[in-house]
Amino acid sequence: MNCKRYLIAALLAAGVVAPVMSAAQTSPSVLTIHADQPVSTVSPTLYGLMTEEINYSYDGGLYAEMVRNRTFHSDWSGLLYWYLVENGNARAKMEVDKTTGPSDALKTSVRLDVERADAQSPAGILNQGYWGMALRPETTYSGSFFAKAGADMGAVTVSLVSDLTGKAVATAMVPALTLKWKQYSFTLKTGAIQPSSTNHLELTVAHAGSVWFNLVSLFPPTYHARVNGFRPDLMEKMAAMHPKFLRFPGGNYLEGNTISERFDWKKTIGPLVDRPTHLSPWGYRSTDGMGLLEFLGWCEDLKIEPVLAVYAGYSLAGEHVAAGPDLQPYIQDALDEIEFLTGGPETKWGAERVKDGHPAPFKLKYVEIGNEDWLDKSGSYAERYPPFFNAIRSKYPNLQLIATAPVNGPRPDVIDEHYYVRATQNFHNATHYDAQDGSAASSPVWDGGHYDKADRNGPKVFVGEWATREGYPTPDMGAALGDAAWMTGLERNSDIIIMASYAPLLTNVNPGGMQWETDLIGYNAMKSYGSPAYYAQVLFGSYLGDHTLGSAVTGAGDKFFYSITGSAAKKQLYLKLVNASSNAKPLDIELTGAKVSATAKMLSLNANDPEETNSINDPERVVPVETSLHDVSSHFKHTVPPYSIQVIVLDDQ
Ligand code: AHR
Repeated sequence: MNCKRYLIAALLAAGVVAPVMSAAQTSPSVLTIHADQPVSTVSPTLYGLMTEEINYSYDGGLYAEMVRNRTFHSDWSGLLYWYLVENGNARAKMEVDKTTGPSDALKTSVRLDVERADAQSPAGILNQGYWGMALRPETTYSGSFFAKAGADMGAVTVSLVSDLTGKAVATAMVPALTLKWKQYSFTLKTGAIQPSSTNHLELTVAHAGSVWFNLVSLFPPTYHARVNGFRPDLMEKMAAMHPKFLRFPGGNYLEGNTISERFDWKKTIGPLVDRPTHLSPWGYRSTDGMGLLEFLGWCEDLKIEPVLAVYAGYSLAGEHVAAGPDLQPYIQDALDEIEFLTGGPETKWGAERVKDGHPAPFKLKYVEIGNEDWLDKSGSYAERYPPFFNAIRSKYPNLQLIATAPVNGPRPDVIDEHYYVRATQNFHNATHYDAQDGSAASSPVWDGGHYDKADRNGPKVFVGEWATREGYPTPDMGAALGDAAWMTGLERNSDIIIMASYAPLLTNVNPGGMQWETDLIGYNAMKSYGSPAYYAQVLFGSYLGDHTLGSAVTGAGDKFFYSITGSAAKKQLYLKLVNASSNAKPLDIELTGAKVSATAKMLSLNANDPEETNSINDPERVVPVETSLHDVSSHFKHTVPPYSIQVIVLDDQ
């Protein structure tokens, strides 16, 4: 909790200080709420998560692996992120060896040829990690590598070494290597060190000879102690958003730049040594440590449901698979993928999942066919989508199928729409899905990207990607206000909008870490922070009723947005108030149809100007502040400060 902000908010709520009003609005607007008039249902799965391998979201982010380029890939510049260690008199060289590797998937390795080394002058290789390696005191790190060696190589010393002092802060010995490829495990335990990310990993030998390595891996403690798991700080931040689903694996990451670079799920399951890795469309190679089963583990850890996107035969550089026999293997891949998630042990792919350590099938309701197929200028989605739809529907009639572009073929259950806009556009878009006559059914008009004024009788809507793109690398308060305005519209129209997910969710803020601005949560190796827009999501996701209530506002002008929902189970009303203007907004709130407690909880997220933001070194400049509102009744006054997002929780007595 930010104490200064808490104090100011407490004084404001107590009326000890007055909110600053520039060119203040003097006469209050009137917000009328009819608590006994439910208008429409709110989807229980409205808010969820969407990520992909972009901005080092997984490798160098959520996926807790600390070793960068653990499978020793190289480019024109040579081996990436690995360096030779020659201490004292040691002499050695290293190179990529394309003739030997530990598996059919990993057919290459790094070869270290040591001409001279001893205990005082070891030789080896070092890895810098993803912009460093975060080490904390009294912590155990679990590692492993595959290796083989020439005769008499002796032991390998594995050390975590401070970049600043050159001294080891944790060391382990791996006994003499064999002549054949084998996996070796080790643990490294730190002592009373200062937390720091200026560290690297060294693998050294004290003997002349040759040694080959691959799949060098090191993990810190992970969320829920999951093996091959996730960074706790990022998982905790996501959990605080109260998401209900995870859309994966992309995004463009699903499609790849080319067909061969798509997310080929069968190459992302099983032991890590059997995963060949692949190039992501965002300019770097994915380890595929975050494979299909890991996405599902992530869902389990957060107790959310998977929304599975299957590759539908289009890749970003413009390649597509023609409908007909050529498409059949891809359709079969999608069916196999669904079977991997949901099949029993008697099925081929269900058995594979059991073998991979997850006996229980996963609950799956939604499958998305492709991603942004309106980008396919050949128009081939019109032919590719129907056979996918028909094959999945016929084998899995209970699944809800999502299309990514307008289709004339079999009607999708859901249509996925994406919106990346500026704040002013989102102020406008807050009413985007409102039916024009206040109730139902104008025909949807495809405007090149989205349906406008959604048809109440048409497919349901999944806003699978959306964001107000203002602020760098993460969104500022102005963007949060745009998001909040937009989310009031999502809630009001959640009879048709069944799911919505901000994108992208994550970015590594180190130089070169980000490919797409703006992103909800930023981090480096050591720490993470939420943007103001992240906190807007936390507020909107944490306080959401199951139905909207009759309401109206008069005299509020533009840049004021609100959503009123009620929870029958919790007997609470949630007033979400968004003031995106520079003026305080005095409100007369008239409440009928409920008798509420005189004291209400209020959460406020506000800033002095729209460009105010959080950053890796100033992570809590704009955070929600909790206070109490007193003298709440069927008619009470409340002033919404400038540039603020507020949630008032009313307890229905
Ligand atoms: O979220 C970033 C990208 O935006 C996604 O990969 C793609 O689906 C969209 O165009």
